[in-house]
Amino acid sequence: MFAIPLIIASVLLTVRGYHLAEDSLRQSESEGKIWAVIVAGSSNWWNYRHQSDVCHLYHLLTKQHGIPRKNVITMMYNDIAFNEENPRQGEIINAVHGKDVYEGVMIDYMGSDVTPQNFLDILSGKSLNVGSGKTLKSGPKDTVLVNFVDHGAPGILGFPNDELHLANLTLVLEQMFNNNRYKQMFWYVEACYSGSMFKNLSSSMNITVHTAANEEESSYACFYDNEIGVYLGDCWSTNWMNNTEQFLPNLAQETIEQQYQIVKNETVFSHASIYGDLVYIFKEPISTFLGHSRSETKPKPASRRNISSRRTAATPDVMLEHLKEKMSRLVAVNSVEAERLDKEIRYHIQTEGKVQEILGEISDQVTASRSRDGEIVSVVYKRPQSIEYPECNRDVLSAFFSQCYKMQTHPYITKYLYRLTNLCNAFNSKIIVSAVTRMCPQKF
Ligand SMILES: *[C@@H]1O[C@H](CO)[C@@H](O)[C@H](O)[C@H]1NC(C)=O
Ligand SMILES: *[C@@H]1O[C@H](CO)[C@@H](O)[C@H](O)[C@H]1NC(C)=O
Ligand SMILES: *[C@@H]1O[C@H](CO)[C@@H](O)[C@H](O)[C@H]1NC(C)=O
Ligand SMILES: *[C@@H]1O[C@H](CO)[C@@H](O)[C@H](O)[C@H]1NC(C)=O
Ligand SMILES: *[C@@H]1O[C@H](CO)[C@@H](O)[C@H](O)[C@H]1NC(C)=O
Ligand SMILES: *[C@@H]1O[C@H](CO)[C@@H](O)[C@H](O)[C@H]1NC(C)=O
Repeated sequence: MFAIPLIIASVLLTVRGYHLAEDSLRQSESEGKIWAVIVAGSSNWWNYRHQSDVCHLYHLLTKQHGIPRKNVITMMYNDIAFNEENPRQGEIINAVHGKDVYEGVMIDYMGSDVTPQNFLDILSGKSLNVGSGKTLKSGPKDTVLVNFVDHGAPGILGFPNDELHLANLTLVLEQMFNNNRYKQMFWYVEACYSGSMFKNLSSSMNITVHTAANEEESSYACFYDNEIGVYLGDCWSTNWMNNTEQFLPNLAQETIEQQYQIVKNETVFSHASIYGDLVYIFKEPISTFLGHSRSETKPKPASRRNISSRRTAATPDVMLEHLKEKMSRLVAVNSVEAERLDKEIRYHIQTEGKVQEILGEISDQVTASRSRDGEIVSVVYKRPQSIEYPECNRDVLSAFFSQCYKMQTHPYITKYLYRLTNLCNAFNSKIIVSAVTRMCPQKF
């Protein structure tokens, strides 16, 4: 469906987007280089904001902060700018009345190349046979910035057709550390339950991760645009990027810790959290990872947030909200389409209830072997627990996604998945997986 716009887009991007002058490598070899891997893990119009955040960041890093384009690796599906629902064809904005952030973005991996495997291969510095083939070539003197934006659930980050699991990510981070692939590494991660991916991150691997949410909550979409009909950005992501912009052109004025404190304060719907090395990287200026332009431009006045214009939604609920919005707009003009949307909405509302029933059934079946232990069931149901067995988490969620519902098409399920993953802390993954298989024998 997106094949033709994709071709047009990539021609535009390579022809119009590349300005060699901006690539002047200002850092000397002894200082090390900054590398960045920036990823939007979603596809679909109603997920507009994820790719928008990443495009915005691309321009900050390359145009404003002076990081050479060849050191910035981007993954995004690229189905937004030329989406048929986009009233501003060829453009993506990240703020209400904001300017286009799409033009000039060099997308290294798009469409079906946006996979967790390719992401891990890029981090590992492996060569890839798809996309631009760009990969992380960082060494022991270099710093690495990673930004990931998408849906998430306990122990997973979403990709357009697949998920990245905690167990796989942990292995790659350990390999990167052991192979001296960086001096220090800093991640910004916007996703529901993003804290669950990093809760057990060692403090001695020179990695720090700032997340939009803690281990047990959703993250939030911000800046609903009535004309475009979508949320333009994610609350936490736009907060930290705005904060960064306020220190331009000298990003050495603020430390990672200071930024975390300020952004945490501004992020009111979820708990911005931080994991890993909270000693050395904490005291680094943000320029260590974000670069900074040393041009003579004067700092811009800080842009103030307009709280009164804010409308937000928990990330898992954005799709359903989008469908409802679309239906109400169509009701008067296209009753056939409105009726179809109404059916779709009712299907999803029903499914949200059904998923909770299925998860209840699964935990009843799994805990039946210890039926007198009613406590287990209530513990499983209460709240997300920490992930003690990442492999079990992976097996159980993979089974659920392949046999029950996928988080990409049914994003609201991410609110309930902890009821499944909590079981891993008390039961063997085989028992849980077979309960999943019994409850969801059909494939979607
Ligand atoms: C994650 O690890 C499992 C087990 O080694 C493997 O089967 C799977 O392909 C890996 N997935 C990714 C995306 O790396
Ligand atoms: C990396 O971490 C180790 C252990 O926490 C610490 O001794 C070292 O100073 C750190 N290096 C840098 C460059 O932050
Ligand atoms: C957090 O917000 C409160 C109230 O708005 C303010 O008093 C405080 O200084 C803020 N802290 C930081 C670190 O920005
Ligand atoms: C970020 O800045 C833009 C423009 O400067 C503004 O429209 C937007 O509201 C700001 N967002 C936040 C979260 O402050
Ligand atoms: C903030 O948003 C409200 C509602 O959209 C608007 O009326 C008001 O003028 C805005 N204030 C500023 C300072 O932009
Ligand atoms: C947490 O990290 C420690 C130290 O790296 C490791 O030994 C332990 O297995 C990890 N726990 C989980 C649940 O991954």
